[in-house]
Amino acid sequence: MKIAMVGSGYVGLVSGACFADFGHDVVCIDKDQSKIDRLHEGVMPIYEPGLDKLVESNVAAGRLSFTTDLAEGIKDASAIFIAVGTPSRRGDGHADLTFVYQVAKEVGESLSNDAVVVTKSTVPVGTGDEVERILADSGTSHKVSVVSNPEFLREGAAIGDFKRPDRIVIGAEDDFGRDVMREVYRPLFLNESPILFVNRRTSELIKYAANAFLATKITFINEMADLCERVGANVQDVSRGIGMDNRIGSKFLHAGPGYGGSCFPKDTLALLKTSEDYDSPTRIVEAVVKVNDTRKRAMGRKVLDALGGADNARGKKAALLGLTFKPNTDDMRDSPAIAIAQTLTDAGVEVAAYDPEGMEIAAPLMPEVKMCSDPYEAINDADAVAIVTEWDAFRALDLNRVKEIAKGHIMVDLRNIYNPDDMRDAGFEYSSIGRV
Ligand code: UDX
Repeated sequence: MKIAMVGSGYVGLVSGACFADFGHDVVCIDKDQSKIDRLHEGVMPIYEPGLDKLVESNVAAGRLSFTTDLAEGIKDASAIFIAVGTPSRRGDGHADLTFVYQVAKEVGESLSNDAVVVTKSTVPVGTGDEVERILADSGTSHKVSVVSNPEFLREGAAIGDFKRPDRIVIGAEDDFGRDVMREVYRPLFLNESPILFVNRRTSELIKYAANAFLATKITFINEMADLCERVGANVQDVSRGIGMDNRIGSKFLHAGPGYGGSCFPKDTLALLKTSEDYDSPTRIVEAVVKVNDTRKRAMGRKVLDALGGADNARGKKAALLGLTFKPNTDDMRDSPAIAIAQTLTDAGVEVAAYDPEGMEIAAPLMPEVKMCSDPYEAINDADAVAIVTEWDAFRALDLNRVKEIAKGHIMVDLRNIYNPDDMRDAGFEYSSIGRV
């Protein structure tokens, strides 16, 4: 089966490469010529473990190709995926659908065969209806079915998530759409990955509901962590204690500095806009968004407190280990590190940082922060060390070396990767999240 993937960003490229690996014939399309040129040279536009190898082997096998020519790329494709960005619209938090609608129009104008048009981009409820209208207005004489098929890929684990999904959600309105999508996902069907067929609006909402629920779960445990600190409880044990209840589940109960990334912040805001538009408030999600925003700055204040309070912090030095919103990505979008660095530099703290992948993107976002070539350079002479992202590289720091080269022995572990007793025994003034 031939598949066209319009948009060769994170979602499009991972999905395209995985579909090719299943044996489909895939063309990834993007209007950014330099991105396509680099892909032809085997250079990935994003950092995702295993993606370069997957692309390379499928290009070599002749199943994966890249082009800027949409009309040529979609020719003979049975399924045309729209996987372009839907950033938050400036000002009101609405998902910006300009790119999605532009692609729909171009697809309609260039279509040369019957096809299913699939929105993979995260789009608000009702977008599929509008895509359908745009395609109809384009005057195409070919049979088209518009389907919603949201992605649930985690950055850093996207290939595994694609190949072994918990579920595949397909929102289709007719048999043509359902049949083609069944064929697209047949390799996974054989793997016994559950496929859920629902109507299109339901599918669109499932994506937002899933992300809002996960964001809620994280925010819930983060507030429990604060409470644990006050009452002398241990949040990791609370997570275990509640997570063993199958109705709750153990995942996404890891307390930290607040969620970031390209999905949760944007999708929760977009869901709030939809709720407002339909006059059906989602007050829990409203609270989640507010609590999470406040938390990121509060984490900066936590580091200031460890340094003796905002009034005593001026001129002191802090090392930030990890800048990306989570490990195994170079993504800095809505990373708590941005607010933490800002809070520290605002208080006159000199900040040095190290991140295995994120520094190039982070540097312009935090111009006052000195980027270092390894963790120890950042720690050198620091009064306090703060672990902001749980990269593996920070799990086994040479603690003797840290104590030797740092000025102070303060460590603020915002990801709970060390054991409090061990750290105190090792001579650190150690604080973490929700543990005393
Ligand atoms: C998320 C969803 O998991 C994915 O299904 C969706 O399609 C896109 O958004 P992603 O943003 O890549 O994926 O990262 P994820 O691993 O879900 O983490 C999101 C944020 O939550 C990170 O900042 C992470 O540090 C934080 N988090 C996650 C916690 O603080 N605690 C947890 O227990 C889990």
